[in-house]
Amino acid sequence: SRVALGIDIGGTNTKFGVVNHRGEVLEKGGMRTDAYEKVEYFIDALYEQVQPLMEKFGTVANFDGIGVGMPNGNYYKGTAEHAPNLPWKGVIPFGELMKAKFGLNCTVTNDANAAALGEMLFGAARGMKNFIMITLGTGVGSGIVANGNLIYGHDGFAGELGHTIVKPGGRKHWSTGSEGSLEAYASATGIAITAKKMRAEFPASMLNKYPEDAINSKTVFECASKGDPIAIEVFRYTGQKLGEALANFVMFSSPEAILLFGGVIKAGDFILKPAKLHMERNLFPIFRDKVKLVFSELSEADAAILGASALVWEK
Ligand code: BGC
Ligand code: NA
Repeated sequence: SRVALGIDIGGTNTKFGVVNHRGEVLEKGGMRTDAYEKVEYFIDALYEQVQPLMEKFGTVANFDGIGVGMPNGNYYKGTAEHAPNLPWKGVIPFGELMKAKFGLNCTVTNDANAAALGEMLFGAARGMKNFIMITLGTGVGSGIVANGNLIYGHDGFAGELGHTIVKPGGRKHWSTGSEGSLEAYASATGIAITAKKMRAEFPASMLNKYPEDAINSKTVFECASKGDPIAIEVFRYTGQKLGEALANFVMFSSPEAILLFGGVIKAGDFILKPAKLHMERNLFPIFRDKVKLVFSELSEADAAILGASALVWEK
């Protein structure tokens, strides 16, 4: 049976897998994204890693193509453009570079769009025609499905909800310079910033036991689980900012559900509860108590790989 290679590129880690039509990930692996200064070096290293997996399926001719989900990926153009959380700047002709290296057609899309597609075909959004996927990782991404289709928009970049403003004049984004974006608060990067600020104000917080570079969403979760009120407050505040943003998104496209996905959801109810509270509180009454706010069903490793490989056959 025929297979495709699905690749999920994140700001920090990359995951890849060989997938069949039924959405089974037959082989998988991963590597760092942020260790390669140039995209060409990254693609060379990726090829080295993927080659042995691909050989298990015979020749390259047994592959129908490669699907890639990546930050700021553009489905229309096969590029990634001005990604704030990738090590490579400017406009990257990723699809072309991949084709040249692998000798296979390569379809590129936004990482969160790929995850939404994976969830729609194989996960928690099966049968749903209207939902929003929010990915909470190094950055914050989204895939908006409306009337059964992913929204790409005029230029192919639709669904950059992480860069919408949740606090006008608020925290300056480390890369884009915008003030008060959802990503600046609700990404893993944003959570680390919040935690560093709050622990400085509260010397008694357990968070002060860690060196500066060990403060991340994982260590904040450890402290919150042990009952540290400041760590809990870091997540509560994060959840509040997320919930306020979600209310806006719900009123924009009237989804049946919002799926949350990505490393940050390991914080569980510490974030989910305040997010729900502040989403409902800020919704116009006709939208209240209707939208399911849930975690993704597919493992983090699989959703975007599945979605990315599905692109191969969709095209
Ligand atoms: C990018 C999105 C991406 C998200 C998650 C954001 O900074 O603009 O395109 O989906 O990060 O990787
Ligand atoms: Na998107």
